[in-house]
Amino acid sequence: MPGTPAEWAETMPNQDLAIVILAAGKGTRLKSSLAKVLHRAGGRSLVEHIVRACEPLKAREVVVVVGHQSEQVGAVVEPLGAVTVLQQPQHGTGHAMQVAKRALGRAKFAVVLPGDAPLIRTETLKALITAHRNGDAAATILSAVLTDPSGYGRVVRKSETTVSAIVEESQLTGEQSEINEINSAIYCFTLEKLWPALAKVKPNNKHRELYLTDAIGVMSLKGETVLAQVAADSREVLGCNTRADLAEVDRVFREWKRAELMSAGVTIQLPETVLIDPEVNAGEDTVIEPGVQLLGKTKIGARCTIRTGSVLTDAALGDDVIVEPHCVVAQSRLDDRVIIGPFARLRPDNHLKADVRIGNFVELKKSTVGEGTKAMHLTYLGDAKIGTKTNIGAGTITCNYDGFHKYPTTIGNKVFVGSDSTLVAPVRIGDGAYVAAGSTITDNVPADALGIGRGRQATKPGWASKKRRELATAEKPKKKSKRAKPRKKSRRRR
Ligand code: UD1
Ligand code: MG
Repeated sequence: MPGTPAEWAETMPNQDLAIVILAAGKGTRLKSSLAKVLHRAGGRSLVEHIVRACEPLKAREVVVVVGHQSEQVGAVVEPLGAVTVLQQPQHGTGHAMQVAKRALGRAKFAVVLPGDAPLIRTETLKALITAHRNGDAAATILSAVLTDPSGYGRVVRKSETTVSAIVEESQLTGEQSEINEINSAIYCFTLEKLWPALAKVKPNNKHRELYLTDAIGVMSLKGETVLAQVAADSREVLGCNTRADLAEVDRVFREWKRAELMSAGVTIQLPETVLIDPEVNAGEDTVIEPGVQLLGKTKIGARCTIRTGSVLTDAALGDDVIVEPHCVVAQSRLDDRVIIGPFARLRPDNHLKADVRIGNFVELKKSTVGEGTKAMHLTYLGDAKIGTKTNIGAGTITCNYDGFHKYPTTIGNKVFVGSDSTLVAPVRIGDGAYVAAGSTITDNVPADALGIGRGRQATKPGWASKKRRELATAEKPKKKSKRAKPRKKSRRRR
């Protein structure tokens, strides 16, 4: 329930409005085991985009008609405040609307949308509702003019403003196939006019379905006002019936998102190669190089550089961070001026504090790295807590797993871990300590101590040349014994 008067003012006008999203179909043309509306484009499932676009309309009810994979569709839309009604089996878009009837309560108007046209924007829906109310219409269709209208139902006009019918592609007469104004399947209906019209619709098509589009013709014939409003941006009505449609819709979403970031002051090089999810944001003067993917809830500060081929998922970057080429970052926090890569992999739950430097072929998991610490080459740090200004040498490995449990490694401030060390967890290295290169550390190393865990080197002068001589002379008897063997055998045979 709205609280303040301002909220009431925003909400009240649409208390007579319900939203119906038709999302029960299978999507046969996608050739998929996944219901059509659960397919993703622009970083979200199709149906989620539509519910989100409807949210600001503050309708009394958002009803989603579900059928195929109804539980999975419900799991997407119910957390967003929608209610679901089950259409089983699916006898067409008109039938879907009849199934939704009971859930619409005392709504006077309904905005009906297909679950497969996810590019629709709230502003366009608001304009549709306004046109419908102002025109005192029985139905207002959102239409679009397309250069290639194939696959869509066509709008047959009665006059400049009114419509006589929608004709599905399979039923077009020769003359009608010239029409390039299409039905988006997004409408506003006055419900008391819709129900009697829908009751008259017959399944007169090869699929034996009840088409909601046929109710338009019935209303028009009865002399009701049916309007069509042409969408300002025809891309908004693109439906996803095929994989090619999905790719096209995804392309448009990505283009819009990049444009949003660019207008907020982000440089994107070769923008068409960069994929950005809807909830990502980035600060001014950040530069995103070609082939980057910014996914999930990734947040990037100002003046960062994300270099080519890097994939960031749910990452939180401060300001002036540099992600060198080909890094993979998941659910990790990188504070100001951190530099990672090239070829670094940050698995979930890392926190790299300011000025940390992570180099090539370094993998981190669930690790905290203190300010100014460096791990530049070929290292695995898992379940580690590392202090400030520590140096982790090339090839350092935290052995955090014994096959059953994970154990922590704690490394203090200003520690120097020599190259190729294995730190067998649980283990602690105190502040200012050294670990000798090539050590296997199984016991704690106290502050300012040296931990060394390796065999002592022995040097034997002249050993190599002596060995070579031995090997060279050993060659000859070997050859003789080879010849001797068959003779022995032949003696035995005799
Ligand atoms: C529909 C329109 C067409 C329009 C096009 C725009 C009809 C008959 N045709 O065609 O005029 O140009 O959308 O994209 O409406 N659905 C149900 N229950 C059903 C059948 C469908 O919920 O029994 C849902 C589907 O899940 C889908 C939506 O309704 O989300 C539209 O169905 P779809 O099969 O995609 O219709 P189109 O052939 O695209
Ligand atoms: Mg469709």
